Amino acid sequence: MRDGIRGAQGRFLALTLGVGLVASASTATAALNAAAEFKEHCAACHANGGNLINPAKTLSKADRQKHGIKTSKDLIRIMRKPGPGMTAFDEKTLPEKEAKKIADYILKNF
Ligand code: HEC
Repeated sequence: MRDGIRGAQGRFLALTLGVGLVASASTATAALNAAAEFKEHCAACHANGGNLINPAKTLSKADRQKHGIKTSKDLIRIMRKPGPGMTAFDEKTLPEKEAKKIADYILKNF
């Protein structure tokens, strides 16, 4: 009988620890840096700022300028409503804050 109670307590403890782990993991996700966000959402097609599908439309400054993409707002507009062949990222997949982080990362690095 006593063992039964201890077993239940053990399970409760394990459950509490599990919930704690999940909570701290999601905090870490929120703190992901821009490079990781870029890798997760964009790098499949834009590895190193290139463009595997349409090589005329890389993320390089030269290509961006050619296509009138100057500010983080311009970049976010493309994420929301991209051209042919690119995945669209709505507010749900990529909240404004994350989209802005990725945009700034692109402006600074490519
Ligand atoms: C499934 C592949 C794919 C993914 C994933 C993808 N893109 Fe693209 N991207 C493309 C293609 C294809 C184009 C060219 C579209 C066109 O013809 O206008 C493009 C174009 C662009 C352009 C315009 C570049 C230029 O020089 O005109 C920007 C900026 C851009 N993508 C940003 C992003 C960002 C930021 C992400 C991640 C949030 C992303 N893309 C994810 C395929 C992708």
